[in-house]
Amino acid sequence: MSTETETTLTTLRTRPRRLRAGGRLRDLVRETRLSADQLIMPHFVLPTDSADEPLSSMPGISRYGVRDLVARVVADAHLGIRAVLLFGTPEEGAKDEQGSAASRPDSAVARAVGEIKQKLGDDIVVVTDVCLCAYTSHGHCGVLRHGRVINDETLPLLEAMAVAHARAGADLVAPSDMMDGRVAAIRAGLDDAGFADTGVLSYAVKYASAYYGPFRDAAESSPASGDRKAYQMDPANVREAIREARLDEGEGADILMVKPALAYLDVIRAVRAETVLPLAAYNVSGEYSAVKAAAERGWMDEGAVVRENLRAMARAGADIIITYHARDALEQGWL
Ligand code: PBG
Ligand code: ZN
Repeated sequence: MSTETETTLTTLRTRPRRLRAGGRLRDLVRETRLSADQLIMPHFVLPTDSADEPLSSMPGISRYGVRDLVARVVADAHLGIRAVLLFGTPEEGAKDEQGSAASRPDSAVARAVGEIKQKLGDDIVVVTDVCLCAYTSHGHCGVLRHGRVINDETLPLLEAMAVAHARAGADLVAPSDMMDGRVAAIRAGLDDAGFADTGVLSYAVKYASAYYGPFRDAAESSPASGDRKAYQMDPANVREAIREARLDEGEGADILMVKPALAYLDVIRAVRAETVLPLAAYNVSGEYSAVKAAAERGWMDEGAVVRENLRAMARAGADIIITYHARDALEQGWL
């Protein structure tokens, strides 16, 4: 036998297709599994009791008043959604330079947290976004002076916001502002206020991404001038992600996050290799809306694409996936 024939025979004794043949066999050897326990559903809360405002740039997602939100979250819990991430909006005319409405004890987020915990208690994990951009008149994530966001003056405001959310009953606070040192500041603030058991889910690795467009409509949080490049990360960088992850771990974060998810799967992989903390991926608004838009036009099979995307995030190393697809995925059996 010639060497060439031998090689061919050896190759044919090894047939990866064997394990792909039957449905049960494929299930048996699947390397990445997803369950409802890993999902977090984001929600936008309005400072009113009753409201259900569908968002045109995010088909299938509404902004809810507190009462409608609670009803939604309770119904979703029956579907198996056991974690939510809440974003608030202030009352009409309540935005100011410092975003002071963010830390009010009766903010939409604080009220929603209280009512959700009252209804569902330990059956739900309530996470709150901590950032000033929806509450500042200029729409930046921190205190602005001469067109610059001032890092250290922003920290006490974030701390106050986090403590207000903890007092309302949040299980985890999730700072998304990208100020340096904010995890340490928030951790200290929570501990000093008696909330040692409230955790920090840090948006440790957050890029200055064009994929946040639909969210900024929903949260009315677009910067009035400039952009967020002076505090959010450059999409070209991955070593910097490791640096941010290490810092936040050192400052006391309980869970780290990479955001966005799909365009940053390599970053998820890199951060996963670097930390032993639980890692979340945020499948952001633009990633969601792009899939919905293509599906509405009949260009892609929504369920198949959502399943593939969620598996990709898990395969890259995410333990937790924050996604607007969560309800559809459970309702339609897309996991
Ligand atoms: C606010 C914040 C943003 C998102 C989460 N928190 C927008 C931004 O930074 O401009 C994006 C979420 C999404 O697009 O789904 N700091
Ligand atoms: Zn912000």
